[in-house]
Amino acid sequence: MTYIYGKWRQEVHLEPPHGWLNDPNGLSFFGGYYHVYFQYSPDNANGDGRKCWGHYRSKDLIDWEFTGTVLFPDTPDDKDGVYSGSAVEHDGILHIFYTGNVKEEGDHDYITSGRGANVISVTTADGVTMSEKQTLLRNSDYPDFCSCHVRDPKVWREGNKWRMVLGARTLDDTGCVLFYSSDDMISWKYDGSDCIEDFGYMWECPDVFDVGGHRYLSVSPQGLRHGETKFQNVYQSGYFLLKDGKTPSADMFVEWDMGFDFYAPQTFLDEKGRRILVGWAGLPDVEAEYQNPTVALGWQHVLTTPRELSVKNGRVVQTPVEEVAALRKKEIPVECGKETEISGGCFDLELTVFSDAPMRITLEKECVIGYQNGIFTLEFQPGADTDIGCGRKTRRARIEHLLEVRILSDESLLEIYVNGGETVFTTRYYPDGDNRSIRVEADGTGKI
Ligand code: FRU
Repeated sequence: MTYIYGKWRQEVHLEPPHGWLNDPNGLSFFGGYYHVYFQYSPDNANGDGRKCWGHYRSKDLIDWEFTGTVLFPDTPDDKDGVYSGSAVEHDGILHIFYTGNVKEEGDHDYITSGRGANVISVTTADGVTMSEKQTLLRNSDYPDFCSCHVRDPKVWREGNKWRMVLGARTLDDTGCVLFYSSDDMISWKYDGSDCIEDFGYMWECPDVFDVGGHRYLSVSPQGLRHGETKFQNVYQSGYFLLKDGKTPSADMFVEWDMGFDFYAPQTFLDEKGRRILVGWAGLPDVEAEYQNPTVALGWQHVLTTPRELSVKNGRVVQTPVEEVAALRKKEIPVECGKETEISGGCFDLELTVFSDAPMRITLEKECVIGYQNGIFTLEFQPGADTDIGCGRKTRRARIEHLLEVRILSDESLLEIYVNGGETVFTTRYYPDGDNRSIRVEADGTGKI
């Protein structure tokens, strides 16, 4: 197959060279490089075929090198997929932990039987060449209340122990996390679990991290009931503040992103002490609702900009890492009420608003980003014979006062940071032309 690069291919965000990408994995700063591994199906833009780990590395979070596919499903314990996981450095070696997915032959529902979910470890001295695989935990090692769905190990150092959190589905369809600890990263002891009744049937891709003096648990739950201004996508991802070792409750859950395309984020600490989050700017199982036309060109999906986390007013705030600002070339003032044409698909728009008066930013005539009466809206309004949202319609968030909007646009991706990143919307969009038209109507001032 030939790949048609150019149209819709991002300038600065990470995409697979061809095939399919989903979750970010093994995020780390190690050996002088930032490492971004990712769920990768090189054979197929729809995600079928072998599920591997692809690998990008960078010295500065701007120029990235694709080093290829570094983990293949090539052993009996991961024969049906090298699923998601994490990485930690110890004594100059990167230790990687992932889920080896196994589907047994036979008559199975693959929930209560027929599926193996193994925690497997490999090590690497250069981030690219992997050691032999070692299986550390199997389904028989997980608590009896678990179904076969247990996966996505996140490992971190705490005191003099290694700790691991896994996402799981119980036999009575409750999403939960399992905690383990270890002295040597090889033998792991079960320390307990956390779950919330009636808060999804499965929690994927957990993460435990500290920022701003607080500890948080991030999960990607499946099976939450949809609302007008929350849980609008097929699956969600968000975090709980784990104050004073409290167990999480449903009302503490804050969604990471309110846009159409965001799932399975992970965080890591870099050498500057920054807690950085990267998400998958996509979702599983959305094809019925909306599409990504790059499938016909041979690839699908992209990762978000690395976002630095901090805490403001009890919320985790996400800000594009400062390195991104170095990509700016020239500055164009925003003239409210006038159409501005940008050459190319990449821009960084910053708008400061002075009041809670209605605000509206229209991109390419069809994408309307608006604020009115305490509701922030991202909406696609298809033309007579165009639909740059490819089926995406409306996403909303409650925002008491609008102060700032920043839009990072790539060729077919928008990240909208509201009020300094207190709320974020990520979406794909597929304009036809090379340039972008922007019209801002606001009581405010801005620049592109
Ligand atoms: C989340 C997820 C993970 C799993 C991986 C498989 O998108 O379902 O739970 O490890 O994708 O690709």
